[in-house]
Amino acid sequence: MSIKPLIILPDPILRQVSKPVERVDGDLRKLTDDMLETMYDAPGIGLAAIQVGEPRRLLVIDLAKEGEPPAPHVFINPEILESSDERSVYEEGCLSIPDYYAEVERPAAVRVKYLDRDGKLQEMQAEGLMATCLQHEIDHLNGVLFIDHISKLKRDMVVRKFKKLAKDKAPGKMAG
Ligand code: NI
Repeated sequence: MSIKPLIILPDPILRQVSKPVERVDGDLRKLTDDMLETMYDAPGIGLAAIQVGEPRRLLVIDLAKEGEPPAPHVFINPEILESSDERSVYEEGCLSIPDYYAEVERPAAVRVKYLDRDGKLQEMQAEGLMATCLQHEIDHLNGVLFIDHISKLKRDMVVRKFKKLAKDKAPGKMAG
């Protein structure tokens, strides 16, 4: 297993639409393991393959709290079948937008179908944090970020900040 570098805003890769996984094989399982290791190292509770530069419809989630045993979930080609009318608000963050958090309102529950790590078709009725996390990660597969769900004013501010950070870090520039 290895830790992969994370793709950070404003990298245009994050806006790519990921392609369906065609085969659940050893290579895909290795990518899954690398993603889990990268997520645990960050640390984060969810990660989509595009965040490590792989435009495939694959994501990992682990909502276990500190001190609890790990509870990794792997979702391959996840699809939302149903969303509740009831909505809920969570403060969201993203490993691709470090140290920025904002409240996002989404459907409170979703029913999702996906392939698991063994390529078996599964369905999950998710609520609470799992529902929010799944929607956040599935958004990534469609090139959507959580900042797309906040006001344009706030979004422009955070994008500007990250553009400036990227520029300051660009090679060839040095600040002594
Ligand atoms: Ni994210």
